[in-house]
Amino acid sequence: MKTKILVTGGTGFIGSHTVVELQNAGYDVVIIDNLSNSDITVLDGIEKITGIRPTFGQIDLTSKLDLENFIGQHQDIKAVIHFAAFKAVGESMLKPMMYYNNNVIGMVNLIDTLINYKINKIVFSSSCTVYGEADDLPVTENSEIKKAASTYGFTKQIGEQILIDAARVGEMNAITLRYFNPAGAHPTSHIGELPIGVPNNLVPYITQTAAGIREILTVNGNDYPTPDGTNIRDYIDVVDLSLAHVIAVKRLIENKNLEMFEVFNLGTGKGSSVLEVIKSFEKVTGLKLNYKIGPRREGDVISIYSDTKKANEVLGWKANRSLDDMMLSAWNWQKKISKLN
Ligand code: UFG
Repeated sequence: MKTKILVTGGTGFIGSHTVVELQNAGYDVVIIDNLSNSDITVLDGIEKITGIRPTFGQIDLTSKLDLENFIGQHQDIKAVIHFAAFKAVGESMLKPMMYYNNNVIGMVNLIDTLINYKINKIVFSSSCTVYGEADDLPVTENSEIKKAASTYGFTKQIGEQILIDAARVGEMNAITLRYFNPAGAHPTSHIGELPIGVPNNLVPYITQTAAGIREILTVNGNDYPTPDGTNIRDYIDVVDLSLAHVIAVKRLIENKNLEMFEVFNLGTGKGSSVLEVIKSFEKVTGLKLNYKIGPRREGDVISIYSDTKKANEVLGWKANRSLDDMMLSAWNWQKKISKLN
């Protein structure tokens, strides 16, 4: 019998890549997603890669009854990976209640339901955004958690606290993964990032500009105190990131004496500026990207990149794919969905 894992948000960007790696590692995956920011055809992409179509429930975590019914039918779930959440920083400032409702109430419903069914192992999708503008770089798991700069960031801090409390009373054994900047796509181009509307994030904006969907990329400021004046981030390949989830799930299931709450940064340890990302894209694709320098974007931290020691040593995980790899896979995916060649 295969071990059953529930993935919330399993048709999303990181979720879908993680489902693939879980299936490749021999797990039986069931997905819950409300399809608010993803498409049901993602299941076709997953099936093309692995040959297995995961069980799927179109469920919104804020509908507790639907959630209870679904989990009631899958009481043999051994662990959960919780991705399902809204993630746009700007939108969260305009519609904070939408973020509290989905990211906080949805998560409370999930944890409560899991506890009722005695399912007590969870991997939580958090973000380096919880660190805010860090005093020292690279950031370690012990770096200070500053007041969140956005409602989105605050919902991730609350999510971590919910798990700290559930762990404290012995009701959940949790691993929180703080991602830096996920990018790239599956090397088969069967799945990738599918932003709805105008992308907020740099890499899909670059690929959509190169594909002619957007006219020009605006670099959000070049007067920051960094070597080339643009913001520095730690871009991490989505496949590397997904593999860390498989390791975390295995760790929860196989180790009896873990601390009840653990946290790991997931990044490469290397910071890249916005201009370096553009250069990498131009190098691997041979294309010239149309871009201009614009004003700073509100809420951007100057620089952030990860200390990778804890994930390397404790999880035995390391990011292997380079920025060039990410740019190439992201572009191949964009070409596929834009039907270019
Ligand atoms: N950028 C541009 N032009 C754009 C888009 C982005 O110059 O059109 C710049 C940004 O100003 C920033 C860098 O590219 O300097 C990266 O921006 P992203 O929006 O791609 O990512 P963020 O670093 O802002 O990270 C945010 C959240 C994370 C979350 C991530 C992915 O803070 O928690 O988006 O959703 F994980």
